[in-house]
Amino acid sequence: MNITVRPLEERDIKETVRAMAEAWNYSYETWERGYYPIEAHEFDLSQNTEENQRRYIGSQDSFCFVALADGKIAGRISGQIIGASGFGMIRNIAVHPDFHRKGVGQKLMDAAIGYFSEKGCHKVSLNTLPVLIPAINLYMKNGFVPEAYLAKQWWGVDFIFMSKWLQQK
Ligand SMILES: CC(C)(COP(=O)(O)OP(=O)(O)OC[C@H]1O[C@@H](n2cnc3c(N)ncnc32)[C@H](O)[C@@H]1OP(=O)(O)O)[C@@H](O)C(=O)NCCC(=O)NCCS
Repeated sequence: MNITVRPLEERDIKETVRAMAEAWNYSYETWERGYYPIEAHEFDLSQNTEENQRRYIGSQDSFCFVALADGKIAGRISGQIIGASGFGMIRNIAVHPDFHRKGVGQKLMDAAIGYFSEKGCHKVSLNTLPVLIPAINLYMKNGFVPEAYLAKQWWGVDFIFMSKWLQQK
């Protein structure tokens, strides 16, 4: 399988929204149900719109990369750098279940970390849920460490704040 990663383009948007809705629903059913409220999941799904995806195209301080597997949208990662602070956040990563465990998540992570490094960031952080074991493994494999435990955060749910400090060029 040929996996490539590149910035989101207009022609990807429809397929990306569809693939991410399926990926998030799979994630909810597989790992989050019983931990993450359905209202929170539905709110997240409501943000997965063509309009919101389109905002990333040409943005100066945020990015969205898509992974294509043999030409099909297989995954997506998005993030943002906060002004000139050198601090970045990964906002969302998901891989469609048809493409799990084929190295797509790792390639998306490589692209995001490459982006933050190129922009001179010294630190990258993200929020995750304790139940998302594949994601936590992926983050730890890439040098992220748990920096804080966020009790009763978003929708009253506990989150883990994970960070990686980058070598500055
Ligand atoms: C997390 C996720 C993006 C990983 O994508 P993927 O393409 O399957 O991951 P890769 O094949 O690139 O694997 C990279 C590493 O991730 C970890 N990993 C991936 N799937 C895993 C699983 N089922 N169980 C345990 N660890 C897993 C491993 O550390 C793996 O490295 P290894 O193969 O050397 O063990 C994917 O599982 C996903 O979309 N999950 C649902 C959405 C989600 O949790 N997003 C994060 C929100 S904070």
